[in-house]
Amino acid sequence: MTGTAAAVENSPIRRLADWSAARLRDLAAEYETPLYVIDIERVRENAARLREAFPDAAIDYAVKANARRPVLEAIAEAGFGAECASAGEVVRACEAGFSDVRYTAVNPPSRDLDRVVELADDYDITITIGALDTLDRLEERGWSGSLYVRVNPDIGVGHHTKVRTGTDPKFGIPAGRAVAAVAEADERGFTVEGIHAHAGSGILDSEDLAAHRALVERLSELAGEIADAGIVIDAVSIGGGFGVPYRDSEAPLDLDALARATREAFSADARLGIEPGRYCVADAGVLLTTVNTMKPTPETTVVGVDAGMTVLARPALYDAFHEIRSLAADSGGRETVEATIAGPVCESSDVLGRDRALPAPERGDLFAIGNAGAYGYEMANTYNSRPRPAVVALDGADAERCVRRETIADLGRYER
Ligand code: LLP
Repeated sequence: MTGTAAAVENSPIRRLADWSAARLRDLAAEYETPLYVIDIERVRENAARLREAFPDAAIDYAVKANARRPVLEAIAEAGFGAECASAGEVVRACEAGFSDVRYTAVNPPSRDLDRVVELADDYDITITIGALDTLDRLEERGWSGSLYVRVNPDIGVGHHTKVRTGTDPKFGIPAGRAVAAVAEADERGFTVEGIHAHAGSGILDSEDLAAHRALVERLSELAGEIADAGIVIDAVSIGGGFGVPYRDSEAPLDLDALARATREAFSADARLGIEPGRYCVADAGVLLTTVNTMKPTPETTVVGVDAGMTVLARPALYDAFHEIRSLAADSGGRETVEATIAGPVCESSDVLGRDRALPAPERGDLFAIGNAGAYGYEMANTYNSRPRPAVVALDGADAERCVRRETIADLGRYER
């Protein structure tokens, strides 16, 4: 993306306080809650900032962060490729207009391989293998196109152990066997376009940056060894993981410093590739939820809301922190109370925030939950037979519902 208006006024982070309370209240009134709101203009700004920091890199958007159609279209228009984790994501990325699509096959189900190979007749699809026997399975399907070999770099980074892929044997071929794997794929007639690794998710501070740098160095060394073995590869993808500050007290990622560190550590004679997911969409989204129950207890004030772990799984799954803001029009005049914001699911992990200082909530108040654009709707589920929420996409003054609210009837649709 070049020279767009988005590049002009482009702050490194949009905080929850920056969203217009009046507009969010109007959206909640029109579409009801729980409701995900995603601002496509902000997605474009984030994409523009990435492009500016990494002008020469191949940028593939990690679709898993947010695969809603307007998001995919905006990012495809920005000229990014798509990094996909399933056949479903590959289909959605192709349909949304991405011209460059990569399927990162992690223990790929046969049905996924069937579908991706079929799509590769019509679209430019590259497959990233994380195990050598995926080559057998691709050959069985008559496919010997372009691929990346995913390396397990033995370097991890991340906001939680559950998202540190770089040290988990599940992912990629051990670094010590990577050159042999590339040679084997090459001998068997595949076009090895590049190597790839993803250390984890949530690079934000200097410690994370050091791990990132080590990853880039390791991949560069491997690329050198591959060249020494007489095999030419065009690309080295260093994965995603660029973090966003979930707390107002945290500073945003210094994208230029990250880009500089990457350039300094990158010595491969190949094109650099990055795969940001969260960074493109996190601060472009909020989740709106309504207070339905107020319960004073000796320990805390429990504020029951209509969104819980089925709508936003991150707090329950990773103890993730998301800022919570009261959008009550008169909240400025209220005293502050400490509250626990809990959802409607029968599990004690169903808490969106603990010990939060908020203007004394009242039943019917609207809350906004920040940084909900990444891994929010995508991870929503129907546990407790709770229908998934609606999603509204904003673009300037326009608002369009891009996913309708699921109904209880929807939940039974596939049952006999
Ligand atoms: N590339 C690969 C191969 C990945 O596995 C991932 C994320 C990414 C890129 C993008 O990472 P990002 O830039 O978004 O950090 N559900 C978790 C995050 C899981 C990420 C999994 N892989 C969360 O909500 O924090």
